[in-house]
Amino acid sequence: MKKGKNSFVCKECGYKSIKWLGQCSSCGEWNSFVSTSELSGPVSQPKSIDEITGAREERLPSSIGELDRVLGGGLVPGSLILVGGDPGIGKSTLLLQVAGRMTSNGPVLYVSGEESLGQLKLRAQRLSISGNTLKVLSLTDLGALDQILQDLEPGMVIIDSIQTMSFPHIDSMPGSVSQIREVGSYFLRYSKENDVPVFLVGHVTKDGSLAGPKILEHLVDCVLYFEGDQHYSFRILRSTKNRFGSVNEVGVFRMENAGLLEVANPSSIFIEERPKQAPGSAIFPSMEGSRPIMVEVQALLSPTTFGQPQRMTAGVDHRRVSMLMAVLEKRAGLEIGWQDVYVNVAGGIRLSEPAADLAVLAAMGSSFLEKPIPDDVILCGEIGLTGELRGVPRLGERLREAEKMGLSRALLPAKARVETGMEVVPLASVQELIQYLFAE
Ligand code: TYD
Ligand code: MG
Repeated sequence: MKKGKNSFVCKECGYKSIKWLGQCSSCGEWNSFVSTSELSGPVSQPKSIDEITGAREERLPSSIGELDRVLGGGLVPGSLILVGGDPGIGKSTLLLQVAGRMTSNGPVLYVSGEESLGQLKLRAQRLSISGNTLKVLSLTDLGALDQILQDLEPGMVIIDSIQTMSFPHIDSMPGSVSQIREVGSYFLRYSKENDVPVFLVGHVTKDGSLAGPKILEHLVDCVLYFEGDQHYSFRILRSTKNRFGSVNEVGVFRMENAGLLEVANPSSIFIEERPKQAPGSAIFPSMEGSRPIMVEVQALLSPTTFGQPQRMTAGVDHRRVSMLMAVLEKRAGLEIGWQDVYVNVAGGIRLSEPAADLAVLAAMGSSFLEKPIPDDVILCGEIGLTGELRGVPRLGERLREAEKMGLSRALLPAKARVETGMEVVPLASVQELIQYLFAE
């Protein structure tokens, strides 16, 4: 343990502090603090869970509401957070914004192994970030970092990226397994001993996993992924591991010229851009983590002019689309075999729920028949191979959001039970769907 840092510890709950405290800010006990050097024997004895009283979790607001939401209500001091994502998706932008805005916990140290100080300054200007509390460092050799950290005593540290950092005492390249392990455990120790939140940026390899050993994911307290399609502005921040909260929360952002903007009402983006009365467009109430978002599914079917029919999908699984095409042909009698089929989810969103089946199939049917789906309709349901409609989870939340967005009719599996102010159209099969939507 470094001298002067966390030199006192609460005998009751083990909470560490730099200063001696009369009352423990974690368990509320009075006169329980002793110097760590006075301690003999283990700090903690086994206790029954009921004996532990008054424990509360401290949270620091990161200044970005959508990030706090994903973290489970703000930053936990002493937590180590890994932020992964494709190159160019906006990891550095997000973290520089956090670094620039969060001033509540003392100076913030942003260490970049990828950009020069000049580049960081340009980015900061673009993001309108200035001020004395943000300290930046362009560095890849962590040999001198100990000293820097001791001198600065930062309230938050950002390491961008873990693959570019190395310790000179380890004889291997930056990004190698042994360097990543060493750098990871160094910051784990540092964050816990000093009660400072540390962000590690990690690049994602082509197959979508975080580069470097899995050990990193096990080591850290939270793993966040920043997702989106580079050609669109929409970004989703998702957690796949969180020791201090649920992994169902997502944060939604838009990448603009002046950086990332929080999107409080994601549904409106997609609904507003939707063409009116256009064949081939359907609205699906998607769940992103615990948040319902209205998403537009588009399909275009046109007769194949030569060779094999083309099939292209973006944002939905192409095998699922093939299955739905077969169901549409066999069960609803639409002869779409010799059609080129394109399916696209607007905004670069990816849909993985089977609940999207009904909207995808309806969009294809609508394009083929050249008949638009009414603007006030949402579709939600899984489709089976016999053309039957199956239930989906969390309909209540989806329909509440849809209603808020001004949509008034929900086409749902016949067996679905949900209380809603929307008009519910129960459908047992795809035949019924086609009949309801497209019959004269
Ligand atoms: P960046 O944060 O560098 O991505 P990562 O660290 O994940 O590799 O983001 C890079 C992209 O974001 C780049 O293509 C430019 C774009 N961008 C904006 O659109 N607006 C901005 O204000 C900034 C800083 C970047
Ligand atoms: Mg970067």
